[in-house]
Amino acid sequence: MDNFTYCSPTRYIFGKDTESQAGQLTIGMGSKNVMLVYGHGSVVRSGLLDRVKKSLDEAGVTYTELSGIDPNPTDDRVYEGIDIARKKSIDGLVAVGGGSVIDTAKAIALGVPYQGDFWDFFAGKLKAETALPVGTVLTIPAAGSEGSGNCVITRKEGLHKISLRTDFALRPKFAILNPELTVTLPPNQTAAGIADMMAHIMERYFSPTTDVEVTDRISEGILKAIIEEAPKVIANPDDYQARANIMWAGTMAHNGICGCGRVEDWVSHAMEHEISAVYGVTHGAGLAVVFPAWLTFMANHAPTKPAQFARRVFGIINHDDKSAALEGITALRGFYLSLGLPVSFGMLGIATPDIDLLVKKLHENKGEVIGGYYRLTQADTYEIYKMMVNGEI
Ligand code: NZQ
Ligand code: ZN
Repeated sequence: MDNFTYCSPTRYIFGKDTESQAGQLTIGMGSKNVMLVYGHGSVVRSGLLDRVKKSLDEAGVTYTELSGIDPNPTDDRVYEGIDIARKKSIDGLVAVGGGSVIDTAKAIALGVPYQGDFWDFFAGKLKAETALPVGTVLTIPAAGSEGSGNCVITRKEGLHKISLRTDFALRPKFAILNPELTVTLPPNQTAAGIADMMAHIMERYFSPTTDVEVTDRISEGILKAIIEEAPKVIANPDDYQARANIMWAGTMAHNGICGCGRVEDWVSHAMEHEISAVYGVTHGAGLAVVFPAWLTFMANHAPTKPAQFARRVFGIINHDDKSAALEGITALRGFYLSLGLPVSFGMLGIATPDIDLLVKKLHENKGEVIGGYYRLTQADTYEIYKMMVNGEI
């Protein structure tokens, strides 16, 4: 096990009606005049936005709205938000929505106190240390941004989708997690969120670091719980207990606990970010296509951990590591399909993917050789993208 520091400072407020605490929590993070960020209307239709506003009003918090944030959010809305926030002397942000809304709020929070171009942080020119406080009311368990220090924004020019990772600067001050808010999700978004949270665990699980038994078992336990609970929420979207378990799993998947003491991988995410940047697909659906292909490559080149994954998570009882790994991948694909997720480019709606372009952008953004579990060259990532065309093993 490697040395590590683990600090997840976000205050998690979990359960029914917890959005009524938004106002007091906002005061608690030191903000009195916030930017209220949300998407294309799901929070308006459900009445959630009004309840959050009521809570802010009761606490004496004033707010300016920034709405219409798109999935796979782009830099133009961040520039707009920074400009408005400065003009209105905003002292914090409250994001009501999913990863796209939360990440837009985080990027604005980072950009407001910085005199230069906020993209400098995403371009790796300097380290993110200071940001306005951000609070969240989560409506979709998926990206895990409510507890992560990460922020993913696409630069429209060149379609560069970049994930900025900070230790603390961008961790939200609070995350309101009310499972009831997720019952309005369309089934494809519920399923994509499940694929995303599983991927957040697996990116950390597939690690070259050995002797991380506690972190491995935490990860396997959360994965097994997701595999048990997911079919329940798909079959019965109103199942509160299953929704609650899925929501908590999504947060735990990405707040760092599953990465303690080891090197992480993150190639599947990098590969998916190129797909969603170029083709605009839902991130979690893209991951359901990428991960089995990446794992298939690993079964051929570094099968030890994929075999452990297959045996411990899917109960594969098998022989040699490679066969066990391959059976695990079949089980994973079957699970995704059972949730209605795609497992190939075609199923994702991309009939003729431009693999040369994806590989080029991937290595431009991430480097010549990439990956924590196994180092991948351009020829390797090309092969993995190719496998996604038919979703073959
Ligand atoms: O815009 P509205 O109308 O709100 O609709 C949204 C949106 O269309 C809808 N939705 C959300 N909650 C709902 C709902 N519809 C009905 N009922 C509800 N309760 O769902 C759609 C997707 O929302 P989005 O915020 O895009 O989903 P998600 O949370 O999956 O976020 C995806 C973004 O997060 C990034 C992804 O790359 C992508 O850009 N990620 C961020 C990470 C982070 N910051 O740590 C890590 C992840 O790996 C990921 O990369
Ligand atoms: Zn993700």
